[in-house]
Amino acid sequence: MTELSLHILDIVQNSIVAGAKHIHIGIAEDSERDTLSITIGDDGRGMPAEVVQKVLDPYTTSRTTRKVGLGLPLLNDACRSTGGELHIESAEGKGTTVLATLGFSHIDRQPIGDIAGVVVMLIAANPEIRFTYNHQRGANRFDLDTNEVKEVLDGIPLSSPQVAKMLREMINLNLDEL
Ligand SMILES: Nc1ncnc2c1ncn2[C@@H]1O[C@H](COP(=O)(O)OP(=O)(O)OP(=O)(O)O)[C@@H](O)[C@H]1O
Ligand SMILES: [Mg+2]
Repeated sequence: MTELSLHILDIVQNSIVAGAKHIHIGIAEDSERDTLSITIGDDGRGMPAEVVQKVLDPYTTSRTTRKVGLGLPLLNDACRSTGGELHIESAEGKGTTVLATLGFSHIDRQPIGDIAGVVVMLIAANPEIRFTYNHQRGANRFDLDTNEVKEVLDGIPLSSPQVAKMLREMINLNLDEL
């Protein structure tokens, strides 16, 4: 994967598969501390401690344990190659939080990519899930909550193409102003 937004899409799929009703996506660009952090939190079924250990263990990418998958190891690599790291906190029956930290100005740090497109795609494809999205750049922040969007839409479905187009433009405008 070449863009962080695509990693985010992949990690959020885990949350959807885990039955999450609320998924939070947080991005914080901190040029002073030279970090870019990504938080993906969900209230899905969570993982037992042994599984958390396993998904972060680099040896789980070997053939015999391939069934554990590649989403988390790939993001882990993307973090580590910039001097950052990946943390997973999970509690069975409560949910999971994935915290990725990357070196903001590191030459190998992938671009964020089309994050507005990814967020809108996730919202449109999963209208029953509440998504919250917070993007911080320095002291500025932008927040989106699909519960609030739904209220404004007053019955127009989140999955409608017009809503997706409007949301995407709105997010991009706000990100431009950060
Ligand atoms: N948010 C989550 N909630 C519950 N379990 C999770 C979560 N994220 C990951 N897991 C568990 O960790 C495993 C590994 O996740 P990972 O994304 O690395 O691979 P995958 O989803 O199995 O496959 P891939 O992402 O390559 O399609 C998942 O199969 C799942 O069992
Ligand atoms: Mg996955």
